[in-house]
Amino acid sequence: MTKKHDIIWLDTTDSTNEEARRNILSLDNLSVVSAYRQTAGRGQRGNSWSSVPGENLTFSVVMKYGHESGLVSPLRACDQFAVSEAAALAVVDLLASHDIEAKIKWPNDIYVSDRKICGILIENSVRDGSMASSIIGIGLNVNQTTFDPSLPNPTSMALSGNTRSQSISLEPLLEEFVYIFKGYCTRYLNITGGLSRLRRLYLSQMWRKDILTEYTDLLEMRTFKGRIKGLTDIGLLIVEDTEKGELKEFAFKEISYII
Ligand code: BTN
Repeated sequence: MTKKHDIIWLDTTDSTNEEARRNILSLDNLSVVSAYRQTAGRGQRGNSWSSVPGENLTFSVVMKYGHESGLVSPLRACDQFAVSEAAALAVVDLLASHDIEAKIKWPNDIYVSDRKICGILIENSVRDGSMASSIIGIGLNVNQTTFDPSLPNPTSMALSGNTRSQSISLEPLLEEFVYIFKGYCTRYLNITGGLSRLRRLYLSQMWRKDILTEYTDLLEMRTFKGRIKGLTDIGLLIVEDTEKGELKEFAFKEISYII
């Protein structure tokens, strides 16, 4: 293992989320485990995450709430969506600093136009109604330019930015992300009133907010036209069903977008 600042770089592991989980007791708060190659990268909804070795960022950030380092305050379990918000906004800012305009497809996919550039898998552990730890796994497509045709709509920084011919160095890119993400922790997660400011920022960066789009209600197995209007306190998606003229709330596995 090579350690630079609080980032551990591994040549190969099964999944950085798994690696972080196995070593959580010995990892410092806000330390990062990154791998050039994952053999069993995991995605949301039980999917796998594939990434050409050495071309993209695949890493996990460990958060320990109320840790003595003071960098991450205690967080109530009902406020856990704030972790998604901070991670997604930090990726959007990272991309913006590389001249790529990205938006957040709720809850925490990052899109450039209608293509996915980054996926986030957050695994929380909760104790007595409070957050104990989170493992924030992030897969950001950086230099990869060809993708498995089975993936619906992938893109990468190389395909989206202006620096098409140059390869982007992974190590400084991850350091930049960590710097930006720590800024979010300090400015929003640790401060009274920070969570509502974080929510406003998240809403301002949401993909297709207020835009008429087709969705599938996965509980009713019904396709409908609607508009994202906002989020509930705990981060459920509020969609106006324009066909029925009513507002509906959805949890993550209850709605899919038709792109
Ligand atoms: C998604 O399905 O969109 C979430 C993808 C998350 C992938 C990252 S890559 C680093 C970390 N380790 C994993 O096994 N998964 C996450």
